[in-house]
Amino acid sequence: MSSDKLATQLVSAGRDKKFSHGAVNPVVQRASSIVFDSVKAKKAATAKRADGALFYGRRGTQTHFALQQAMTELEGGEGCALYPCGAAAVTNSILSFVSAGEHILMTGAAYEPTQDFCNVMLAKMNVATTYYDPMLGEGIAALMQANTSVVFLESPSSITMEIQDIPAIVKAVRAVNPDVIIMIDNTWAAGVLFKALEHDIDISIQAGTKYIIGHSDYMLGTAVANKRCWVQLREQSYLMGQMVDADTAYMASRGLRTMGIRLKQHEAASIQVANWLSTCAEVERVNHPALPSCKGHEFYKRDFNGCNGLFSFILKDKLSNEQLANYLDNFVHFSMAYSWGGYESLILANQAAELNRIRPAGDVDFTGTLVRLHIGLEDVEDLIADLDAGFARLK
Ligand SMILES: Cc1ncc(COP(=O)(O)O)c(C=O)c1O
Repeated sequence: MSSDKLATQLVSAGRDKKFSHGAVNPVVQRASSIVFDSVKAKKAATAKRADGALFYGRRGTQTHFALQQAMTELEGGEGCALYPCGAAAVTNSILSFVSAGEHILMTGAAYEPTQDFCNVMLAKMNVATTYYDPMLGEGIAALMQANTSVVFLESPSSITMEIQDIPAIVKAVRAVNPDVIIMIDNTWAAGVLFKALEHDIDISIQAGTKYIIGHSDYMLGTAVANKRCWVQLREQSYLMGQMVDADTAYMASRGLRTMGIRLKQHEAASIQVANWLSTCAEVERVNHPALPSCKGHEFYKRDFNGCNGLFSFILKDKLSNEQLANYLDNFVHFSMAYSWGGYESLILANQAAELNRIRPAGDVDFTGTLVRLHIGLEDVEDLIADLDAGFARLK
């Protein structure tokens, strides 16, 4: 029986008996070659190669089909393409919908490698990128050009966490040109805390590396498309050789089963830490979507079903290199590492000048050092004590 409750959906999505052969979980079917018993069987597989038939490893096996079905159900799309990492999901989704001489609108606070892809690879193909202020809302209409083919969103923004007014942006884009493809890097929402396709977005992309995998040990990208985009996304990603191995696909399906309860814990703990940070004399502002101090908090409240463990805060002071090293090098429970979404707490810092460089549009309205936290599944009191000791090191 289907349910409208996220926890139940995450446990049951894609759990079709045809993928599991009697077990609870799908089989791990590792394959490049698929053996056909006859010419007739080969012909039948070829005819249905994009539609659930076993054909060749790059088109997927039962393990991939189980994950694709789960993601398609969870995000409410027509189909889900799989990629070896989140960055590949972003770049191949864009490449599937732009041609030389066209133009894309990219949020000016996007994940830095997404910007690099536009600046290097799209520029090489003579595709122009205009960066827009993530907070511009319906003002996006004025930036649309006759050759704009893709509008790309990411909300919250990487690092600075601004929440976009997505309904206003989508409405304005569609009013100018309904054919433009709107896609979103929906990683922060793990594809389920913000239901992109229900907001008339065509493609919801995520780095499954984060909360789906959830244990910082595998990399994966997913892109769930609506009906009008699915075949083009599927076929063009296939032409570009995009696929993931069966073991990773299995681990992703497995990760989904506990993602609901993990997200709830990340949410509760990160809100507790963010509220504590708001009371600290060293802190200028906390950029946590669930707190009113975060830009676009009102859109978070309106459009999201919850949050996770990733947010940032800004110190009143700009730390010197020595202060920053002394601060970051001595945490007990927070590790310094890229990525997020695993069970462990992480910390990274950026100076305002560095952020300005990767904000081709967007407002870096502070001068103090920014700290980004991922609140993991440790005891919250331990994490707060660790952060408190960090502030003591600044004195
Ligand atoms: C918002 C966002 N999108 C995409 C990616 C890329 O994912 P991956 O590391 O799996 O390529 C990341 C990685 O940190 C990210 O934070």
